[in-house]
This record gives sequence, structure tokens and C-alpha cells, in this order.
Amino acid sequence: MSTTIKVSNLTKNFKTYKKQPGLAGSFKALFKREYKTISAVKSLNLEIAQGELVGFIGPNGAGKTTTLKMLSGLLYPSSGAAQVLGFTPFDRKNEFLKQISLVMGQKNQLWWDLPAIETFNLNKEIYEINDKDYKETLEELTELLDVKEVMHQQVRKMSLGQRMKCELIASLLHRPKVLFLDEPTIGLDVVMQKKVREFIKEYNKKYNSTVILTSHYMDDVKEICDRVIIINEGTLAFDGALKQLTKDYADYKILIPIFNSAVTKPELEELGEVVEFDHPRAVIKVPRDRVASVAGRVLEKYDVDDLDINEPKLEDVIRQIFEKPSSLI
Ligand SMILES: Nc1ncnc2c1ncn2[C@@H]1O[C@H](COP(=O)(O)OP(=O)(O)O)[C@@H](O)[C@H]1O
Ligand SMILES: [Mg+2]
Repeated sequence: MSTTIKVSNLTKNFKTYKKQPGLAGSFKALFKREYKTISAVKSLNLEIAQGELVGFIGPNGAGKTTTLKMLSGLLYPSSGAAQVLGFTPFDRKNEFLKQISLVMGQKNQLWWDLPAIETFNLNKEIYEINDKDYKETLEELTELLDVKEVMHQQVRKMSLGQRMKCELIASLLHRPKVLFLDEPTIGLDVVMQKKVREFIKEYNKKYNSTVILTSHYMDDVKEICDRVIIINEGTLAFDGALKQLTKDYADYKILIPIFNSAVTKPELEELGEVVEFDHPRAVIKVPRDRVASVAGRVLEKYDVDDLDINEPKLEDVIRQIFEKPSSLI
């Protein structure tokens, strides 16, 4: 597999002007400006192969958008290097821009007062797509996303979900080899999230395109990404298979007994960490290697109506990583 994206020590600092409060502060600032430096991305190293679909996650302000902007050539790094499809993104060569796309869930490129099809037609000219390819791709994408009728409506009259689908189409008409998706499902309802997610997966498979996806919704990542990259405060916290993440960082499972008899919290605390207790239901964290014996003890000692044994939620595993990032690298 060939490497499509290679990032070495990529760093971005933002210098922001710090104003003292009040008039005196403004006056002082006339003579001496004070700056504050924000390290948005700190010496990031990554390698992504052609065809990979990678989930890029981290809390708000972790540096995800800044990284994607650098990789798509919208921002210059403060230091370090990046190669995407053999180009340096910040050179913004036409040949490079024609092979990538950056979709931001919170921004739009569609013309608000025109039907979406007009933006599609404009993109055909911008990207110099030939008639045959354009027709084929448009047909295929509008069919897949079910917007054949809707695309003739004024964008302002579309629902958020319809608009997001059309945004995706506008960004994909030139069949980019690399696709950066920044929160593409934000604000969408669950059904629409699922549709967009399935579409992304299909697009990735069909064209063997490389996709980096950031999302707040763990379901997006859980269902379509084999690999996840986690950043926190601009620093890489995890890079590997999704499965490995749960194995490495969640050394426990969740036991949920429903009791049919009296039981006290101190008794349960002997079994593991009691996360919730509201009789008859308890939620207990039990170390992986003790799950079988603890479950056996519960069934033996108490009268229970039900007993569930679950993997911890991905959200919880990830939160744990954010709480102690330094110990994980
Ligand atoms: N243009 C900018 N000027 C100053 N600070 C910025 C700018 N863009 C982002 N930041 C800061 O950089 C950090 C990372 O932001 P961002 O990349 O948007 O994070 P994420 O997308 O993971 O939420 C944040 O602290 C944010 O406030
Ligand atoms: Mg962001």
C-alpha cells in the first residue's frame, strides 16, 4: 500500500493578541501589545495509506480542524512537514487541489439562493470535469444520496440533512482521491447520520479514496473506521485499530445485575467498582480477568432477574484517555 499522507512534526501555533480589560488596558496596548501563543497542534506524526478510512477524534479544541486545514492547504504550519499525494499542501498547486476535498459540517459552499444543481454545474467548470464523467458521477451520487428531486430546489429551502447531502455531492463531483471530512454529521438526526455514514463508507470502498473523518459522534467512528487517531491538546494520544483501543485501555467490563432480593451497596463493592446503584439495578465495573468468577458469585449468592455483561462504551474508553493522556504515549 502506498503512503498518501505523511506528516512529520507538524506544528501550528496561533498568536493571539491579549487585551487587558478596560480603557486603561486599551491605552496600554497602544504602546505595548501582549501576545498569547496557542499551540493548536504539537509535533504531530502520522502516516496514512491510500484507501484508508480513518477516524480522527479528540475533545473540542484538540486541534482536529487545524490539522485538516493544514493538510488541505488552507493553513501554513508553524513548523514541520506534510505530504499529501506527493504534494506539499500549502503550495496549493492546482493539480493537488483537484485531487482533494475538505468538507466542513458547519460551513457551506452551496449557493444559498440557487438550486444545488447550479453549484454542481459551477464546480464542473472549476474542476474542469468533462461532460461524460460529470454526468456519470452526478447520476451516481444523487442516486446514492437520494436527492434527485431536491437538488432542483433552492438551497435555503432544504432541510439540514438534504443540504449536507448536497454539500457532499458538491465536494465529490471531481472524485477526490483524498477526502477530509470535518464533522460531516453534526446536527443531523440519527437516521440521516446513518445515511451519510453509509455513503462515506461506500464512497471510500468504491474509489479506494483516502478519508479522514472527524466527528463528535462515536457511532460514526465505531461503524465505519477501522483505524482511529486520537489527539488531545494538539498531541497524539492514540493511533491504531479501533479494536485495539478497547483492548488496551478498557481492562474492565460492565456487569449489570437486576436483583430480585435485598442487597446493599457495600456488599456489591466487594465485587468491583459500583458505578450506579438504584435497587434493583446495579452497574459494576469488573476487571476483565475476573468477569467470569464475579458473574458466578452474583448468580450463586443472590436471586437475580437478569444479568448483562457489556463491553464499556467507546465514549467512556476515550474519555479515560483524555483524562490521563501523558501516560498513554
Ligand atoms: N484562527 C485561530 N486563531 C487563534 N486560535 C485558533 C484559531 N483556530 C483555532 N484556534 C485554537 O486552536 C486550538 C485548536 O482548535 P481546532 O483545531 O479548531 O480544534 P478542534 O477542531 O479539535 O475542536 C483551540 O484552542 C482553538 O481555540
Ligand atoms: Mg473542529
